[in-house]
Amino acid sequence: MAQLWGGRFTKETDELVYRFNASITFDKMLFEQDIEGSIAHVVMLEKQGILTCEEKDAIVKGLTGIRTDVEQGHLVISDKYEDIHSFVEANLIERIGEAGKKLHTGRSRNDQVALDMKLYVRMKAVQIAENTRDLMETILSIMENNLTTYMPGFTHLQKAQPTTLAHHMGAYFEMFKRDVLRLSDIYKRMNYCPLGSGAFAGTTYPLDRSYTASLMGFEGPTLNSMDSVADRDYIIELLAALSTIMMHLSRFSEEIIIWNSNEYKFVEIDDGFSTGSSIMPQKKNPDIAELVRGKTGRVYGALMAILTTMKGIPLAYNKDMQEDKEVTFDAIKTVSDCLTLFNGMLAAMRFNGKIMEESAMKGFTNATDAADYLVNKGVPFRDAHGIIGRLVLYCIEKGSSIDALSLEELKAISPAFEGDIYDAISLKACVEKRLTIGAPGRAAMEEVIKMDKDFLAHIWVSKI
Ligand code: ARG
Repeated sequence: MAQLWGGRFTKETDELVYRFNASITFDKMLFEQDIEGSIAHVVMLEKQGILTCEEKDAIVKGLTGIRTDVEQGHLVISDKYEDIHSFVEANLIERIGEAGKKLHTGRSRNDQVALDMKLYVRMKAVQIAENTRDLMETILSIMENNLTTYMPGFTHLQKAQPTTLAHHMGAYFEMFKRDVLRLSDIYKRMNYCPLGSGAFAGTTYPLDRSYTASLMGFEGPTLNSMDSVADRDYIIELLAALSTIMMHLSRFSEEIIIWNSNEYKFVEIDDGFSTGSSIMPQKKNPDIAELVRGKTGRVYGALMAILTTMKGIPLAYNKDMQEDKEVTFDAIKTVSDCLTLFNGMLAAMRFNGKIMEESAMKGFTNATDAADYLVNKGVPFRDAHGIIGRLVLYCIEKGSSIDALSLEELKAISPAFEGDIYDAISLKACVEKRLTIGAPGRAAMEEVIKMDKDFLAHIWVSKI
C-alpha cells in the first residue's frame, strides 16, 4: 500500500478497504494529464516565488523523466499506489528527493483530479469530433455520387414518396453536423481551469490561477473554488452528446440492417465488415451495424450512471465522484470505436441503385404527385386526395400502378386527367420537381452539398 495521507492514522487500512477505495487500476488513464497539470502548477509556483528556480527545474525534469520512462516501458504504473496522483508524486520524490515533496504545495487532489478529468474529456471531445468529421466526409462523398439515385422514402416504414440516396444520406449529415456543433459547444463551456481551487476553499498561497490556466490552453480559471472541485457537468454534457451520437449511429445501423436484408437488398455490406454463421453456411450477417446499435445502451448507461451518482452529493468533493471515471472512459472508447468502424463499413458498402429505383416505382410513391397534378388542373386538394385514394384502391384490385393505367381508366375516375399525367408522375419528375431548399431535387441538393463542404472545411476541430 502506498498512500499520501498516513500521518493521522494509527492503524493500517484493511486490505479490502484499500482495494475498494483505490482508483489506480482505472485512473492510470489520466497519467499524461496528471503530469501536464503538475508541470503547469510548479511553473506557476516558481513564477510566484513559492518555489525556487532550482526546485522548479528539478521537479519538471523529474516529471518529464517519469513520463518518458512510462512511455518507454521502463516504469510501470503499478497497483501498489492508491491512485495516479500518488504514483506520480511518490516516484518524483524517489527520483529527485526533497524538492519532490514540494510539488503538492497549494494543491489538493480534489482540484488535481478535477483538472485531470477536464483535460482528458476536453481532448476526447476533440477526438470524437474528428471521428465524426471523418464519417461526415464519407457521407458527403456518397451524396455527391448519388444525386439521381432514386429510392423510396419511408414513413411508418411504409413507402411514402420517392427521394434520392443523396437526400437520405444528407439527413444523417445534418445529424452528425449537430453532434459536432454540440461537442464544440461543450468544449467552450468546459474550457475553464479548476486548478488552484485547493480542497474547495482556494489556498493561502499567492497562486496565479490565470497563468496556470493559460499554460494549459484554458480560457481562464473557474470562478468558484467550491464548484470547481464539485463540478462534473462537463462529463455529463459530453456523455449526453455521446449518447446522441450513438442514437444517430443506431438509427443509421438499423436502416442499414433493413436495407441489407434479403427482402430489401438496397445495399450490400462488404465481406470485410460482415460475419458468417457457425451453422448456416449461406449467412452473411451485418454484425458491425448490430453491435453499434447494441452498444448504444451502454453509452446511455454511462450518462444515467453519472447523473444518478451526482444527484445527491452535497458540496464540495465527495468520494462518490471517483465513480465518474470508468464509465466515462468506457463510453468515450465505445463511441470512438463505433464511429471508426461504422465509417469503414459505410465507405465499403455497395448501394444497389437499380433495386432502389425499382422499389421506388412500386408502392404508389407517386400518389402525392398525382394528387398535386389534379390540383394544378383546378381540382381542390381535398377532392384530389379522395380521387387518388380511389385510384390506388382500383390499382390494388387490378394489381397495377397509377402510371400503368390507360388514360381512359384514369378519366373514368376523374375527367381532369390528361395525357400529360404520365410525365408529371414519373419517378424522375416526382423527385426533380422538389426544389425548395432541403428537398431532394438535384439543384436543391447541389446547393446544400456546397454548404456541407463549407462546413467541413471550417469545422472547429481543424482549428485546434
Ligand atoms: N481518486 C480520487 C477521484 O478519482 C481522487 C481525489 C481524491 N480526493 C480525496 N479527497 N480523497 O476522485
